[in-house]
Amino acid sequence: MPTKTVEAELEDLREKLHHHEYLYHVLDRPEISDAEYDRMMRRLKELETAHPDLVTPDSPTQRVGGKAREGFVKVRHSSPMLSLDNALNEDEMRAFDQRVRELLKGEPHEYVAELKLDGLSMAVHYEHGKMLRAITRGDGQVGEDVTENARTIRSLPLRVKSKLPEFEVRGEALLTLQAFERLNARQLQHELKPFANPRNAAAGSLRALEPALTASRQLEYSAYFLLVDGKFHYDSHWESLEELSRMGFKVNAHRKRCAGLEDVLEFYKNWESKRDSLNYEIDGVVVKVDSIPQQSRLGWTAKAPRWAIAFKFPAHQEQTVIENIGVQVGRTGTLTPVAHLKAVNIAGVTVTRATLHNEDEIARLGVEIGDTVLVERSGDVIPKVVRVVKQGRDRRAFKMPAHCPVCGGKIVREEGEAASRCINTNCPARLKESVLHFAARGVMDIDGMGDVLVDQLVTRGMVKSVADIYDLTLDRLLELDRMGEKSVEKVLHNIDASRKQPLPRVLNGLGIPFVGERTAQILADTFGSLDTIAQADEEKLQEAEEVGPKVSESIRQFFHERRNRELVERLRKAGLTFEHEIKKKKAAGPLTGKVFVLTGTLPNLAREEAKARIEAAGGKVTGSVSKKTDYVVAGSDPGSKLDKASSLGVPVIDEPELLALLQ
Ligand code: IVH
Repeated sequence: MPTKTVEAELEDLREKLHHHEYLYHVLDRPEISDAEYDRMMRRLKELETAHPDLVTPDSPTQRVGGKAREGFVKVRHSSPMLSLDNALNEDEMRAFDQRVRELLKGEPHEYVAELKLDGLSMAVHYEHGKMLRAITRGDGQVGEDVTENARTIRSLPLRVKSKLPEFEVRGEALLTLQAFERLNARQLQHELKPFANPRNAAAGSLRALEPALTASRQLEYSAYFLLVDGKFHYDSHWESLEELSRMGFKVNAHRKRCAGLEDVLEFYKNWESKRDSLNYEIDGVVVKVDSIPQQSRLGWTAKAPRWAIAFKFPAHQEQTVIENIGVQVGRTGTLTPVAHLKAVNIAGVTVTRATLHNEDEIARLGVEIGDTVLVERSGDVIPKVVRVVKQGRDRRAFKMPAHCPVCGGKIVREEGEAASRCINTNCPARLKESVLHFAARGVMDIDGMGDVLVDQLVTRGMVKSVADIYDLTLDRLLELDRMGEKSVEKVLHNIDASRKQPLPRVLNGLGIPFVGERTAQILADTFGSLDTIAQADEEKLQEAEEVGPKVSESIRQFFHERRNRELVERLRKAGLTFEHEIKKKKAAGPLTGKVFVLTGTLPNLAREEAKARIEAAGGKVTGSVSKKTDYVVAGSDPGSKLDKASSLGVPVIDEPELLALLQ
C-alpha cells in the first residue's frame, strides 16, 4: 500500500478509536460493540507494526506503551495546587457565605456547587492538542511526573480539539467502587494486602512503577479546572467546566449553578442522602464563587482560596459486632487495641478492623467483646468505634496483655500516659514498623520495600536494624519468596538512591518519638548536621522553633542510648546524608522577637494568613497564652485565651491594631 494511503487509514482509525473511547469512557454511551472496537484496534496495531515510523505518541495503541520506571521525576506546578478549607456543618457554611458577602461588599454573586470526589488531584498539561505531561499534586508546589501512568486512563483524552495552543487541566483521579472491589479481590487472590479504601488504591495505582499495572486498575479522571499559564482562562468557572466538557474531558455531571446559600444547602442535602447511590466515593460538596474576577478579589490565604470551600458530609457509620479485641505493636512499642469486627460494608468498603486507640478510650466507650457498636469510616483514616449501641449478652472485658503478643517482652504503662508499651527494643513487631517507617514514601522513599518484603526480612533475621537495609545483596534478596530478579534489582536501586535523601528525611526516618517530618525539618534547618543535634543538650535543642521540653527530652534520650549511637555510626558508614545547609535567619522585621497568640475569628484575615504575616514580619505565633506572650490578637468568639491574657496582664489587640503593627 502506498504510504499516503497508509497514513490516511491510520489517521482515520485513530480518529474513530478516539471518538469511541470518548463515547464509552467519558459519556458512558457506547455506539459500537466491543468486538467492533477490538477489530479497529487490531487493524491499527497491524498497520503500526508494519510501519513503526508512523506510530505517534497520541495513538490509542500507545496508552500502555510506556516503559516501567525506577522512580518519578519531580516537577514544579505552574501555580501551587493548594487545598480547600472545610465547613463541617451548616453554621460553618453560613459563616463562609457571610464572609464572601462581606468581602464582596454586598455585590451579587453566584456559586457553583460540585461533588467532592474522594480521589487525588492531578494536573495534566496539553500542547497543540496533545497530552504532554501529567503531574500528581505532591506537596502542592512540586508533584511527580506520572505521564506514562496517566496515559492509561481511558477517560483522559490523549488528543483534544482546542483553540488554545497550551493549557492545563486539573481534576481528580479516582477508582469506582466496582474497580476497587475487583482490585481487592485480585489482591487477596495473590495473597497481597488489600487496599483500605478506593482513595488509597487510586494513589497506589497512579504511582505504580509499571504503566501496565496502572492500566489494569482502571482509574478514571474527572476535570474541574482549566488553566492557561497557571491561571484561570474564563470569566466564569461554570463556563470553564462547560468548555472542558466540550473539549472531551469527563466533567462530573452532578453540578449546579446556585443563586445563593439556600440553593447550595439544597444541593448538599440532596447529595448527602443520595451519596450511596453513586458508584464512586464522595466526601462532600465543593462550593466555588462562579465569577473569576470576583475570585481574584477574594484572593487566597496561605493554604486555600477564599472563594471556595469543601462542605464535608458527616462520616459514614454502620453497626456491627465486636468479635474480639487484639493488639497491634507500633514502631515505638505502643500497643494499640484493635477491634476485630464482624465484616460490615460501610459505603461500599468492607470493614473488619477498627481502632480503639488505648485502654482509656475503651473505658470511655465502655466497650467489651460481644457488644454491638457503631463504626465510622471517613476518607483516609482508619475506621474507629464511635459508641456501644447494644451490650452483648455474653460480653467479655478486654484486658491489656502483660506480655507482648509478638516477642513475649514486658508491657509497661507509665504513669500519666495513656499508652502501654512493649519495652523490648528488639521486638520484631517494633522492628518491622520501624523499617516500614524508614522506607516509607516521604521518608527515605524506598519504593518496593513494603509490608510483604519487610515481614520476610525481619522474620528471617536479615534485618535487625534499619542500618541492615544497606547491607542487603542481590543473592540474599533472591532467596526470599515472591522476589524475582527484576524486583530485587529495583529495590536495591531504590535503597542505593535513598543514601542521597536530605538530612530532614534521615532524621524523620530514625523514628525518634515526637520527631516527625516537620520537627525534623526545623531541627536540620536550625542545627545543620546530625552530629550537632545528637550532641546538643536540652537547652540548646529548645533554641529551635517549636521544640519544647517534651521533644528535647525525647531527642536527648534517643541519642543517649548506645544502640542508637551505633545505628547512627552504621548509617554514616553507609553514606547517608548527615549534613544540611542551615537556613539563613530571616531578616529582622517590625515584629522580631514578639510572641503572638491568636484567638477567635478575625473579620478579614484567616488564621493561617494572620500567622504567615506575623511570621513574615519576624514574629512568632504560639498556641497558648503565657508570661512570654507579647500580644493576644482577638476576633469574635475568642474563648478562654482572652481570660488568661487579662489575668496575666498581656495586651489584647484586634485586627486593625495587628495590621498597624505589621506596617
Ligand atoms: S477544587 C484550591 N473541586 O478536594 C484547590 N477539588 O480538599 C481547589 N476535590 O485537593 C480544588 N473534588 O483533590 C475541587 N470538584 C472538586 C473536587 C476537589 C475533589 C479534592 C481535590 C482537592 C481537595 C481539597
